[in-house]
Amino acid sequence: MGNYDLEKAYRSIRDRVPFTPDMGIVLGSGLGGFADGLDIIEKIPYKTIEGFPVSTVEGHAGNFLFAEYAGVKLILMQGRVHYYEGYEMKDVVIPVRLMAKLGIKTLLLSNAAGGIGDELDPGSIMMITDHIKSFVPSPFIHTDASEFNGVRFYDMSFVYDRDLQEKLRQAAAEESIDLKEGVYLQTTGPEYETPAEIRAYRLLGADAVGMSTAVEAAAANALGVKIAGISCITNKAAGLGGKLNHEEVQQTADKVGDSISRLVLNFIKRV
Ligand code: HPA
Repeated sequence: MGNYDLEKAYRSIRDRVPFTPDMGIVLGSGLGGFADGLDIIEKIPYKTIEGFPVSTVEGHAGNFLFAEYAGVKLILMQGRVHYYEGYEMKDVVIPVRLMAKLGIKTLLLSNAAGGIGDELDPGSIMMITDHIKSFVPSPFIHTDASEFNGVRFYDMSFVYDRDLQEKLRQAAAEESIDLKEGVYLQTTGPEYETPAEIRAYRLLGADAVGMSTAVEAAAANALGVKIAGISCITNKAAGLGGKLNHEEVQQTADKVGDSISRLVLNFIKRV
């Protein structure tokens, strides 16, 4: 695969966006139905954007949606691309870099994840406080210096914004949602983990495991975007429950969808 290009994608989309967005939201499993509750002003299918990587995963649509809620101009990503689909990591993060170029100041990332922590049962909602990339290449490994703003060695001390974390806590409290907190670990996937890997990840300090998000957060953080992250815990991680399968992940994500949507709508009001 090749020919994915941020500049090309930007030129292809910039005259079609209805406004300069304030906030981007990546709708992972768990927020699949989120857009249904909003008035969508504009829909731009990824496949109409030149140079833009398109997801091939079942259950992942591929559109940018534009909407306004509580006075906040939103750009929603319905579907993302994953490293395991065969893209290079610099191409996996083109979508978030594009949203940053379009002007977002805040980015909410969401995903489905396996629960490692004892408290993280299927159906739990976890706010991401930090992340670990496990054998996942950096999205900054490439030669196009223009994307580095003159910086090669980015600081990742505070990827998930403290202030936004507090806003998520407040939103959860007001919606009577039990919001867990923890560290998200990204693997390359696409296979689920072995029980031995999960034991290792627990020792490393991971509370939840999934196949996205950390690299997107890193790329957006480097561009000065404030980041919040939410994991929908769809299953106990390998060895801590039963066998894993994509259908179960999808089903649990659908069940928790309403709560996560309420949490996110309340959160947007506070941003
Ligand atoms: N592991 C990795 N990714 C996942 C999982 C899991 O257990 N559940 C949902 N996404």
